[in-house]
Amino acid sequence: MPHVSMTRRYRFCAAHRLHSDVLTAEQNWAAFGKCNNPNGHGHNYVVLVTVNDGGHPDTLDPAWVDEIVNETIIRRFDHQDLNSDQEFSKQTTTGENLVKLIWDLLAAKIAPGVLEKVGVIETRDNYFEYAALPAARS
Ligand code: NI
Repeated sequence: MPHVSMTRRYRFCAAHRLHSDVLTAEQNWAAFGKCNNPNGHGHNYVVLVTVNDGGHPDTLDPAWVDEIVNETIIRRFDHQDLNSDQEFSKQTTTGENLVKLIWDLLAAKIAPGVLEKVGVIETRDNYFEYAALPAARS
């Protein structure tokens, strides 16, 4: 169904290191290259959150989305080491895993069907996206 959606843009700065405890030092280097540097490195992450109007055109409210994202995502990750986050204790802090985690955190607060897409820009040339599957047609 055609519908209106709204995308809000957020930013946070965080450090991370691409590293897996189940790989050897050589395997980590082969998989992640310089992103496996033991000292870590930082990114200015951009998070794009798309919500739709849930069928009610007057309900798209930037302040409502801002409050949820700021409390759930920005406060949690800004100026932090992503590798220290409890959710990353058993998975690598790749952009793929980060965008899925952000989706899951927001999906716990935003009604199914209203949260439409989450995007994470990690570097100039790296963009990750996670989206709800289209609703099945009846
Ligand atoms: Ni990185």
